Amino acid sequence: MSTFNKEDILTKLGGQSRFCWQAPSNIAFVKYWGKVDFQLPTNASVSMTLKNCHTTCELSVSVNSKQDVTLLFEGQKDTKFEAKLVKHIERVSSDYPILKEFSYRFMTSNTFPHSAGIASSASSMAAINLCMTELLLKLGQISEDQFFTVASRLARMGSGSASRSLFGQYVDWGKTTKEYGTQVKDIHPDFQKVGDAVLIVDSSEKEVSSSQGHKLMMEHPYKDFRFQQADAKCNEMISILQSGDWDKFIPLLESEALELHGLMMSGREWFVLMKPNTLMIIDKLKKWRKESGVRIGFTLDAGPNVHLIYHMDDKQKVHEFIAKDLLGYLENQRWIDDEIGNGPLRGEIK
Ligand code: PMV
Repeated sequence: MSTFNKEDILTKLGGQSRFCWQAPSNIAFVKYWGKVDFQLPTNASVSMTLKNCHTTCELSVSVNSKQDVTLLFEGQKDTKFEAKLVKHIERVSSDYPILKEFSYRFMTSNTFPHSAGIASSASSMAAINLCMTELLLKLGQISEDQFFTVASRLARMGSGSASRSLFGQYVDWGKTTKEYGTQVKDIHPDFQKVGDAVLIVDSSEKEVSSSQGHKLMMEHPYKDFRFQQADAKCNEMISILQSGDWDKFIPLLESEALELHGLMMSGREWFVLMKPNTLMIIDKLKKWRKESGVRIGFTLDAGPNVHLIYHMDDKQKVHEFIAKDLLGYLENQRWIDDEIGNGPLRGEIK
């Protein structure tokens, strides 16, 4: 028997049944790798929010205690993600039982190609949970000033790295609190103009998913050292972003990316997510950086694609370098031109 009154809910909604948000992807500079309990990270991480790679989600709700969840991704039913969302809403409803009174229809789309090998879970979980959070706000369950922290916490429950997609520029998760992401303040002007060229080396499905990777990390022989080291690296990265020191930034960024992959390769149940072309690109980059003196470094996510992180003043040179030296290592010569972004936006309901 429901404790909520349908008429009361409808009055609170004031005729609104649709919500729309756009949320960006993010790239971690210090990585989250290992989790406990309910998606709580075992170390602090910090990421840069992207601008062009984002997900738009439109949510339609109806008051209906016989709960139904539908997910359409680019107009097509996605049953795998739908099953994930059913579980997610069930978990979130234990904090906000009023959510059990609804049926949900989510319609999402991405600006980046589906098969680009770019993790879409961060931007999609962020966009979906922004819509859910706006519903909670309408229902008087949270206050306006809690909006983005609640959205970040809910997104975290769906996919850890999504907690960092709720704010612009740089976001820590696990340093300020493990519950949700927090925007890093006082960023140096030199780190407010940063490009990310996402080089697509291979877009096929990963051999080992991030959830399996997080699990394996919890049995890793180096786990205690890694968690301590990552917390220290996160503090160091944040002070670099605040002091504007690119000379310190590049070695930290790159050694962290290789440490993530080193961990994958050094567990008893090891796996390799880099491809030969990942290493070819890294090698080419190292040489070109030396010759050109351009402020540029690489990072990797849990996959073979390479993110080139550079100061926007050098955008032209970097684009020329990619065109001249790197296209041959990319799948269908594909890469995505992205940069630092300002976080989510409320979307227009069509
Ligand atoms: O959010 P998940 O569970 O997909 O994990 C993401 C982990 C990394 O992308 C490898 C690192 C990170 O911090 O984003």
